[in-house]
Amino acid sequence: MSDSLPFSQACKNNRQPILDQLTDVVTGPAVVLEIGTGTGQHAEYFAGQLPHVRWLPTDHPDNVWMCRQRLVLADLPNVAAPIALNVSERPWPLPAFDHAYSANTAHIMAWEEVCDMFGGVAEGLGEGGCFCLYGPFNDQGGYTSDSNRQFDRHLRARLPHMGLRNLQDLEALAAGLGMSLYRNLEMPANNRLLIFRKSAS
Ligand SMILES: C[S@@+](CC[C@H](N)C(=O)[O-])C[C@H]1O[C@@H](n2cnc3c(N)ncnc32)[C@H](O)[C@@H]1O
Repeated sequence: MSDSLPFSQACKNNRQPILDQLTDVVTGPAVVLEIGTGTGQHAEYFAGQLPHVRWLPTDHPDNVWMCRQRLVLADLPNVAAPIALNVSERPWPLPAFDHAYSANTAHIMAWEEVCDMFGGVAEGLGEGGCFCLYGPFNDQGGYTSDSNRQFDRHLRARLPHMGLRNLQDLEALAAGLGMSLYRNLEMPANNRLLIFRKSAS
């Protein structure tokens, strides 16, 4: 694999702990939508380890180039060509999906975009479909670690619309869209994997 590809050390560090949980969620053949694919490292690794899954990488139109070369070189039979997707532009230009996954996006998107992301996911999921959202989150309006506090301050200083999201706000958002928090998993480096599941409509 070329050294010149966009690379995230965090993705390399967190991919196995995330995969260990995804294998419990995506147990059979399924199409998994990824929102905010970034460098494509997660798409490459998860699709390689989950051959029964068809992975659907997407990213904001300005950034979707970042994953393209890696995924072309990986040439995995179960990874679709990356699709440009801005979660705030409807309708989403996507085929049907069974589950959705997104890492480190909720604190980068403005809150309105987070709402749009949940809205589009909830619309696409069938009953029992899961939305797996990885990243650092606040709990009961407070930071869960000093490093998360520093990270949040760093984000807000860069752009005021960015920042760590509060778990209970996400739960309320999801509930209004017919999804409930099914698992709230502690992950390394003060991150969490939140798994929301769509209930019967
Ligand atoms: C910090 S990066 C995370 C990338 C990767 N998932 C990871 O964990 O390294 C945030 C990602 O969110 C995407 N993003 C931000 N706003 C978006 C939007 N409105 N619609 C879709 N993707 C968006 C960015 O393009 C970027 O790929």
